[in-house]
Amino acid sequence: MQFIDTHAHLYDKAFDEDREEVIKRYREEGGAELICVSFDMDSIPKAIDLAEKYDFIYASVGVHPHDAADVPENYLQVLADYAQHPKVVAMGEMGLDYYRDLSPRAVQQKVFVEQLNLAKDIKKPFIIHDRDAHGDLLGILRREGIGEAGGVMHCFSGSWEMARECMNMGLYISLAGPVTFKNARQAKEVAVKIALDSLLLETDCPYLAPEPKRGKRNEPGYVKYVAQCVAELKGMAPEDLTAATSVNAKKLFNLK
Ligand code: NI
Repeated sequence: MQFIDTHAHLYDKAFDEDREEVIKRYREEGGAELICVSFDMDSIPKAIDLAEKYDFIYASVGVHPHDAADVPENYLQVLADYAQHPKVVAMGEMGLDYYRDLSPRAVQQKVFVEQLNLAKDIKKPFIIHDRDAHGDLLGILRREGIGEAGGVMHCFSGSWEMARECMNMGLYISLAGPVTFKNARQAKEVAVKIALDSLLLETDCPYLAPEPKRGKRNEPGYVKYVAQCVAELKGMAPEDLTAATSVNAKKLFNLK
C-alpha cells in the first residue's frame, strides 16, 4: 500500500528526539510524498528546511487562525516570498477556529481572507483549518470563491451536507485520525458518501492519532490506519483507496 500524508507538522518538537526515524518509518510503511504544513511565521522556515533535506517532502506556508493576531504587518509579502520556493506547493494552514478562539474572530476572518486571496492570486492551492466555524467559513468561501488552484478542507469535521457543498465547489475533503474514533458518526458518514475523486488522507501529526494509537503521539506512517478505516467504510481495498487518494494529492499539489 502506497499513501501520501497531506498534512504533517514534522518540525514539531514532539519529533525532536527521533525525527529521522519517524520519516524512515513513514517510507518503510508505504509513505510516498508528504506535505509538511506550517502554521505560523516561525514554523515556515522549519517546514522548508525539511522539504530541502528530503526530496519527497514538500512544504506549505501560512498562518493558523490561532496566530492571526500576531502576524507582522508585512506578513502577506513574507508569505508570497516564501511561496516562490520550488518545494512550496501550497498555502496554509489558514482558516477559522472558534473552538479555542485564540485570536479575535474578526482578526481570524481578515487574516484568512487575505491569505485565501493571496493563494488565488499566485495560483497555489490552499489548506483550510475549520473548527466550530463552519457557517462563517462557508460564507467566506462562497463570497470569495476558490480560484483556479483550489484547496482542501483539512481534518474535515463538518456534516455531510457541508462536505457536499465543499465538494461541489471543487474543494477536496481530507480525513484524519478522528474518522477512526468510535463515536465519529459525522466523519464516518462523510467517509462513506464522499466521492473518491474528492478525498485526501492525512495525519495532522503529532496531534490526533488514529485508532489503535489514539492518545499517543501521531506520526505520518499512521495514515495507514486512517486509510484502512476509510476503505472499510467505503467497502473497498485499502490499496485501491490510497492509490486514488494519492492521485488526488498529486493533482491538487502539483507533485511531480
Ligand atoms: Ni494542522
